Amino acid sequence: MMADSPHAKWIDVGPTTQIEPGMAATLPVEGGDEIAIFHTKRGQFFALVNKCPHKGGPLSQGIVHGDSVSCPLHNFRISLHSGEALGEDKGCTPTIETRVDAGRIYLLREALLAASLPPAGAVACPTDKAA
Ligand code: FES
Repeated sequence: MMADSPHAKWIDVGPTTQIEPGMAATLPVEGGDEIAIFHTKRGQFFALVNKCPHKGGPLSQGIVHGDSVSCPLHNFRISLHSGEALGEDKGCTPTIETRVDAGRIYLLREALLAASLPPAGAVACPTDKAA
């Protein structure tokens, strides 16, 4: 992770060119869960904890379709917007608000810490299909 001011609201995690469209890169978080940063073929960037809500599969290794990713282990499809499992599947992966400015990717510091650091499993899906 690139260093910014410890008080910066957004964390610069590098240039947009580091991730090809349709691909993902991972970002380690000291003491927390790895983050997957996705670049869609439409040019959008999303960040999620790199753990499928099913059994923890590495979402960064999945196939990106539009604005969702298929988990490489059992093929759950996860929304890159909400982190929710789509279709009949249930579960939710934490997302981190992302923005692009002047060719650089920024993650919202507060969301990054909330999503990647313990206690794990305290994730509220935007719509709670599991209840
Ligand atoms: S671990 Fe992702 S679908 Fe099973």
